[in-house]
Amino acid sequence: MTITADMPQTSIIPIPREICLRAGVFRLDASVCITFAPSTGALARMLADRLKQFAGLVLAVKPTGAAEGRQIMLSIADDDARLGREGYKLEVTCERVSLSAPTEAGLFYALQSLVQLLPVQSLQGRHQTPAAGATGAMLEIANQTIVDWPRFSWRGAMLDVSRHFFNVEQIKQFLDVMALHKLNVFHWHLTDDAGWRIQIYRYPRLTEDGAWRAGVGFGLVADATTAYDQRGRYGGYYTQQQIRDVVDYARQRQITIVPEIEMPGHALAVLHVYPEYGCTDGPFDIQMFSGIAEDVFCAGNEATFELLEQVLDEVAQLFPGPYIHIGGDECPKKRWKACPKCQARITSQGLKDEDELQSYFIKRIERHLDGLGKRLIGWDEILEGGLAANATVMSWRGVEGGIEAAQMGHDVVMTPHKRCYLNFHQSQDKKFEPMAVWEDVLTLEQTYTFEPVPAELNEQQRKHVLGLQGNIWTECIADPKHLQYMMFPRLSALSEVAWSQDQRRNLADFCQRMRQMQFRLDVLDIRYRAIDTGKQM
Ligand code: ACM
Ligand code: ZN
Repeated sequence: MTITADMPQTSIIPIPREICLRAGVFRLDASVCITFAPSTGALARMLADRLKQFAGLVLAVKPTGAAEGRQIMLSIADDDARLGREGYKLEVTCERVSLSAPTEAGLFYALQSLVQLLPVQSLQGRHQTPAAGATGAMLEIANQTIVDWPRFSWRGAMLDVSRHFFNVEQIKQFLDVMALHKLNVFHWHLTDDAGWRIQIYRYPRLTEDGAWRAGVGFGLVADATTAYDQRGRYGGYYTQQQIRDVVDYARQRQITIVPEIEMPGHALAVLHVYPEYGCTDGPFDIQMFSGIAEDVFCAGNEATFELLEQVLDEVAQLFPGPYIHIGGDECPKKRWKACPKCQARITSQGLKDEDELQSYFIKRIERHLDGLGKRLIGWDEILEGGLAANATVMSWRGVEGGIEAAQMGHDVVMTPHKRCYLNFHQSQDKKFEPMAVWEDVLTLEQTYTFEPVPAELNEQQRKHVLGLQGNIWTECIADPKHLQYMMFPRLSALSEVAWSQDQRRNLADFCQRMRQMQFRLDVLDIRYRAIDTGKQM
């Protein structure tokens, strides 16, 4: 079969590795039963929920062998080494839809693909009608075999909840759309100059006062989704109980959460409540406008390390994933240059300059994380003054930091702002676009054509590129709908860069499939920049 842009071979985003279409169809109607092998019952029930949501079909769910007739079968099968830890097979015949994978993760992704094979007619109007009862539409899925596994193991999305706070329900919705795209790392930017968002029992004032600021700030106008406390302050935070709930929700969707606790810069929310950890006496205000703060954690004060290590102890308990992100970006050295304690540390440690002091800071934190069984990841500034022994580098200022780190044998995640920052405008036609950070433009095409493995890397070094990530900074995000609009379709594009083989990528074909994805996003009540008009908001 020849694939043309008008006739995509599939409706799935990210596009699978191998698809073999055959004549005939599987008819999906209420007589079909979902059957599951041992240990796959929860996924079978999740599939039933999705079919109800996306097709209005209520199907019976039974253990394998307990049903006759046409079935959707879930099973664990380890018969193809190519599938790895996340791959799957999806086979559609007139009698059966079979989802199989070596792991629960693979099966979860098979399920996402099946949902995306539902014809658009099943989706139309679903967000206006209750998701129950027959649609009346004939639901047919073409006979085919899909064999699929991801290109990269790190397929991330970062959300800044410091500048704009998103509540648990909104975070779960973010995780839901990540899962639909087979994205598997949620980088939760929990602390910054504009507010501290994670409850720490040992330091309650971090959230009692550090989570709240005098107003929304950043030139934004408050709306119905804006969170205020009883004193009229803007902000919010997650209790540890809520964090555990979100971690579990993510786990069920095969998403690992990487929490970010910023240091040594982006520390104003901490310094506001505990000024003793700064280089000067303060006072320090929680930030309400864009810009890089000069006030940072004092690297000469032992108490700073005690604070941060105790915070990280609690963070490590909450997040079962292997990584903790420690920020490391945008730390001006002005205060350190003038601080007697910081200068004494430079002398006592035999450091050359403030860059090496920053490196001392990060290396010391890495040793602590090591003791907690966690790996350190940080923005590419952690290269300055010398990289910590086992650090993973998140390359954001370009791909150069990632290249340098990979050449030194370190793992890297690529998220260069010119290709991966979804807070930029989506088109040059800015008058039709909502407010955006830095006034830069990042088009769908620029995200879609990003190649995360630089040509400079040799075969061995390439293996250190774990994957890529789309980032959303929220100083200009007015509300959750605005956030969604900035995410789509660009996050869909990045999911394809992260999952699919590079030779499978074709922008025209992607856009066709995105038109179908839009119906799914409609069902989920998710806003997006439409492929065709581009001007709705
Ligand atoms: C960053 O955008 N400052 C990592
Ligand atoms: Zn200092």
